[in-house]
Parts: sequence; C-alpha cells; structure tokens
Amino acid sequence: MKFFLDTADLTEIEEAASWGALAGVTTNPTLYARTGGKLSDFHNHIKRICDIVDGPVSAESVAMTRDEIVRDGRELAAIAPNVVVKVPTMVEGLAATRTLADEGIPVNMTLCFSVPQAILAARAGARYISPFVGRFDDISDDGLDQLSKVVAAIGNYDYSDNTVNHEQVEIIAASIRSANHVTQAALMGADIATVPFGVLKKMVQHPLTDRGLDSFMKDWEKVQNA
Ligand code: G3P
Repeated sequence: MKFFLDTADLTEIEEAASWGALAGVTTNPTLYARTGGKLSDFHNHIKRICDIVDGPVSAESVAMTRDEIVRDGRELAAIAPNVVVKVPTMVEGLAATRTLADEGIPVNMTLCFSVPQAILAARAGARYISPFVGRFDDISDDGLDQLSKVVAAIGNYDYSDNTVNHEQVEIIAASIRSANHVTQAALMGADIATVPFGVLKKMVQHPLTDRGLDSFMKDWEKVQNA
C-alpha cells in the first residue's frame, strides 16, 4: 500500500516527505482554503507541492461542465509533470475524464461512493478512483464495507486498455479519519490510502512502542551508571 497525504499545507507535506514514506498528495478546494490561500495563487501553490513531492499530486477542478473541466485539467496538468487532475464522479466529470485520459492526462475520480460509480470511472479512463470512507461513517453507514466492495469489484477486471500509458487503475481509500481505517483499507487490498497529517502521525505511534522505548532508556541509564 502507498500513502498519500490529504492536505494542501506545505509544512505538513515537507514534514511527511522527510519521513521517507510519502508517495503522493491529494488536495481539494476545502484543504486549499484552510491554508488561507487565494484563488490567484492556486496554481503556484500546486507547483510548490509538486516541487516537494516525488509522486502524483492531485489538484481538483471545481468546474461543473465537461468543457470547463477539460480546460481546467489541461491548465492544471501543465503546472508540473506529476499533477493528476481530480474530477468529481458525475456525468460531466466522466465525459471530461475520457477526453483528458485520451490526451494522456491522468485523472483521479473523486467523490466516489459506489461500485457502479467506480466501474464507470475506470471505463472512462480514470487512473485513480477515490472511494470515500469517512463520509459514509458521518451518515451512520459503513464506509469500510463500501470501500471493500469497490476494491473487490475493480480488482475483478483489467481496465488497462483504457488508461493513460496502460497503467492499472489504482484505488485510493479517501476520507480517511483514523489509523483503523488505514488498517482495514490495507487488509482489503486498497492500493493507496490518502490520509490527513493527524492520522499519519497516529499511524507511527503505538503505546507498546512508547513503553519499549521508555524501558530501553531506563536500562541504558543503568548500564551507563554501572
Ligand atoms: O481527498 C478528500 C477526501 O479525503 C475528503 O475527506 O475528511 O473531507 O471526508 P473528508
């Protein structure tokens, strides 16, 4: 499984990249707004992220029609070679994904909540599909169960005749809210988990590791004082 960071915060991205386990970044308008960024600086901000991250950086189009999404997608893809255009799963998004994929521009289809949506995304040429987990939990549904169905259904078929450079479509477990979401996503075979920085920090922690370190330090002090 690969890890993407779900943020637009450059400090978080730099910190996570320094840990050596970061494979990419996903952003969205909400995450960019949280940085206090202005619309006029959006493309520059994506470029800064692309310069830090050695891997795909998803930048979302907020357009609602296929022509506008394609225009946005071309502009975003021109920012850096590692930009992936994030497109919502809707009719206009599917049509735009087909055009962008045919032009060699990779797409991450986002806001995916069902197997049929995921299959349509794969057929439209999406390079990545992002089923959301936490948003289901928000409405007292089971997001992990939905994710497992998407992973299984997409894994049943080969869509590579359809994608940019004939690469396999990858499933990004998105809207991840806890380390347990990551555990379950890995067990069911999701290719990627995109996680907020807070979850990434929790992933590296375990109380028994802390206790083990504490015990090592105490024993080491005894050795030094002997
Ligand atoms: O990439 C966006 C997705 O992960 C959204 O997460 O927490 O807003 O449901 P959330």
